[in-house]
Amino acid sequence: MDYEGQELHKDQFGEDFKWGISTAAFQTEGSCAADGKGPSVWDVFSARKGKIRNGHHANTACDFYNCYQKDIALIRRLNIPNFRFSVSWPRVLPSGVKTVNQKGIDFYNKVIDHCLENDIEPWLTLYHWDLPQALELKGGWTNRDIVSWFADYTELCARNYGDRVKHWMVLNEPMVFTGAGYFLGLHAPGRTGLSNFLPAIHHTVLSMSEGGRILKKLIPEAEVGTTFSCSYIEPFSQKPKDIAAATRADALLNRLFIEPVLGMGYPVSDVPVLKNLHKYHQPGDEEKMKFDFDFIGLQNYTREIVKYSLFTPYLHARLVKAEKRNVPLTSMKWEVYPPAMYHILKKFNDYPGIKKIYITENGAAFPDWLQDGKVEDTERLKYLQDHIAQVLKAKSEGCKVDGYFIWTLTDNFEWAEGYDPRFGIIYIDFATQKRVIKSSGKWYARFLAR
Ligand code: BGC
Repeated sequence: MDYEGQELHKDQFGEDFKWGISTAAFQTEGSCAADGKGPSVWDVFSARKGKIRNGHHANTACDFYNCYQKDIALIRRLNIPNFRFSVSWPRVLPSGVKTVNQKGIDFYNKVIDHCLENDIEPWLTLYHWDLPQALELKGGWTNRDIVSWFADYTELCARNYGDRVKHWMVLNEPMVFTGAGYFLGLHAPGRTGLSNFLPAIHHTVLSMSEGGRILKKLIPEAEVGTTFSCSYIEPFSQKPKDIAAATRADALLNRLFIEPVLGMGYPVSDVPVLKNLHKYHQPGDEEKMKFDFDFIGLQNYTREIVKYSLFTPYLHARLVKAEKRNVPLTSMKWEVYPPAMYHILKKFNDYPGIKKIYITENGAAFPDWLQDGKVEDTERLKYLQDHIAQVLKAKSEGCKVDGYFIWTLTDNFEWAEGYDPRFGIIYIDFATQKRVIKSSGKWYARFLAR
């Protein structure tokens, strides 16, 4: 059944379906050096000339560090029952290891307590890309020691927050932080090339599973997951070369991190260069890479069209830009294509071993204006409704999808793109930090009304 264009009711999804909103520490908190916080790779990267559009930085961002009560009050006002946010590793462990910053620990205690007092369930992501800079200086994700650094950090969070937080996500989008951060150099820490990318991939997979094991051991009653970026991929034409190129791009972008966790190993036969990952393998790794997560979080925004390309090293495939395809675009120049959500859900649902799926991010950046005290973001509202309709379609066909979280609460620091792309369902005037609920936010509140 197709639900696009029909009025949606949350009852159609069942009582247990989790509705939420997602954010991340670095994109919102600001207070980058307050109360003993150490620098992260993103603090350092955004201070480098030319790395962030318009020279923007996140030193203040949405000032969530000081405004968390106000923002949690807004979440409550919007009737949103689940709030996903991340812990900043260098806020709680300024040098990444050993010495704990109690003020950092206390900050998240306050956020968690405030959520619970407001009847909002906290969902914690351990790693949303803000690696302590002190660890980057030791090689960051390319150094195998990160598996134990990350394990200690996970244990610290579990021991401090596990009594109240019952939903955990180990990593946010490993493909993006290793690909953009360690291969393309577009994100922090700005490294490039296979000699960085390959070890980063392997140590990330080991850390992801180890993090899962630690959480499950220390908080057995918790629901433990991890999140993946995923784009629905289609070939540019039905020519065998384009179809094969799309298969390779899909293996790299969608399958690289989930398959080793499920015990299927890396997708080496589709991306042969990945066989070099063996250089970083140690005996026993095959087992250590696996973990039986209670759920996986999928984060989908768009579809990609892929074409054969002789000149693209290793992959021989390239994305055909949405701008050149005469399709509707968001401010990120991503295609608006709601069926991508349905196809991605079907694809991941087909993996044996996945118990439950939550859509932990979906949303869109469009230009927004504050006019007469209002922000009428009709394009975002339609985008959200159309994507939610696709979730419903997949669910009605038996997909194990049990939740949907909008990206994101307020406009925030969009990584290398700075503040121009606005993804929030709440508008922020960054000069005054004033918040205005957009039409999309008002709709979500009505949709979720208890
Ligand atoms: C990330 C967010 C980001 C969003 C929009 C996801 O890749 O988890 O941090 O802001 O997409 O680009």
